Amino acid sequence: MSQGFAPFYDVNRTYEDNYLQGPFGAFAEALKNDSAQPARLQLSGQGEDVLGFHVNLPFGIPAGPLLNERFTTAAFRMGFDLAVYKTVRSRAWGCNAFPNVLAVHPKRADGSLVPGSAELDEGVLADTRFELPISISNSFGVPSRDPDEWQPDMEKAIAAAGEDQLLVPSFQGSRVEGMDRKAYIADHVTTAHLVTETGAGLMEMNTSCPNEGHNRLLCHDPHLVGEITEAVKNEIGDRPLIVKLAYIPDDADLETMVAETVGHGTVQGFSTINTISARLVDANGNQALPGAGRERSGVCGNAIRGAGLDMVGRLSAIREKLGLDFAIVGVGGVVSPDDYRAYRKAGANAVMSATGAMWNANLAHEIKDEIKVTRR
Ligand SMILES: Cc1cc2nc3c(=O)[nH]c(=O)nc-3n(C[C@H](O)[C@H](O)[C@H](O)COP(=O)(O)O)c2cc1C
Repeated sequence: MSQGFAPFYDVNRTYEDNYLQGPFGAFAEALKNDSAQPARLQLSGQGEDVLGFHVNLPFGIPAGPLLNERFTTAAFRMGFDLAVYKTVRSRAWGCNAFPNVLAVHPKRADGSLVPGSAELDEGVLADTRFELPISISNSFGVPSRDPDEWQPDMEKAIAAAGEDQLLVPSFQGSRVEGMDRKAYIADHVTTAHLVTETGAGLMEMNTSCPNEGHNRLLCHDPHLVGEITEAVKNEIGDRPLIVKLAYIPDDADLETMVAETVGHGTVQGFSTINTISARLVDANGNQALPGAGRERSGVCGNAIRGAGLDMVGRLSAIREKLGLDFAIVGVGGVVSPDDYRAYRKAGANAVMSATGAMWNANLAHEIKDEIKVTRR
């Protein structure tokens, strides 16, 4: 890592060490203060409604780098008014082998990766040269603690939100050997129920996880997502349900997803995008991440901002066309206040940054400062 800089999730340590010892850097410092949110980080006279919850600025950190209550509480104290608690499961689930995060260097001059382009299959260079603007691999396999551990921790995380701040729990179903469609749907319902027991007022369901085989994600099957969200909504009642989506290239498929979920009253918002899958290679063209099944990995950060903005813009157009009311949380490559604004302009009701926030713990502060300046 360059310049002795410490992201709050330390990519040079294992997931387990981060879970037990993190957060690091500025987030660790923030935990030493006991005020919920320093006044200098709040925008006075400002506030917006996100799915019925009032937040100071609809900006935060999406599912992933905030591993437990210490991370989410530190995020709140650093002025991120939305904090998503990393995706939990109905059972303990192991993490992919270390390393999980490599620096990714796309070929294009602006560092972007274009969905559907040949580069994603031919190979993108990945190594340990972390540099700005930052793009990284994200190869964890969605690990989870056992519910006996995450439930009390999530309850604490919800309670630690300051005024006009919101903790959003994320969960997903777990497909295990021999599970049929019915049991897979039931596992989502069980997990959603476990989340309600923590006192959560809303939740996010991750559908951008592998479903059936290589590169086939749950969100590529809108009918199954429709069935699952119907069952989950029956369980969670009035609590808003957000669905986390990967990039969906085809407008008709995206419209089907909206129709099968929002159209049936089961989903109140989408968070998008998750990572973009690419074949990652080292300088010699060999597989960059060690182990079977890791030839490809999700890439996030600067490289995927164009794809994220495109997805949010198209989702917003579908919202208008169908005259439906749902929230859009824009995610992907947000590294600066300009990126926050671009997502809002594209139709996002709220914006989140994972990689950008990991490499700049002051990102929420910087966005709020800019808003204060433009207001003067
Ligand atoms: C370290 C890390 C872990 C992540 N884990 C999850 C996860 O458990 N569930 C999920 O829905 N998304 C997960 N993500 C994806 C992010 O929520 C986000 O969609 C993606 O990183 C794109 O945003 P970014 O470009 O700001 O990083 C993870 C991302 C990172 C960087």
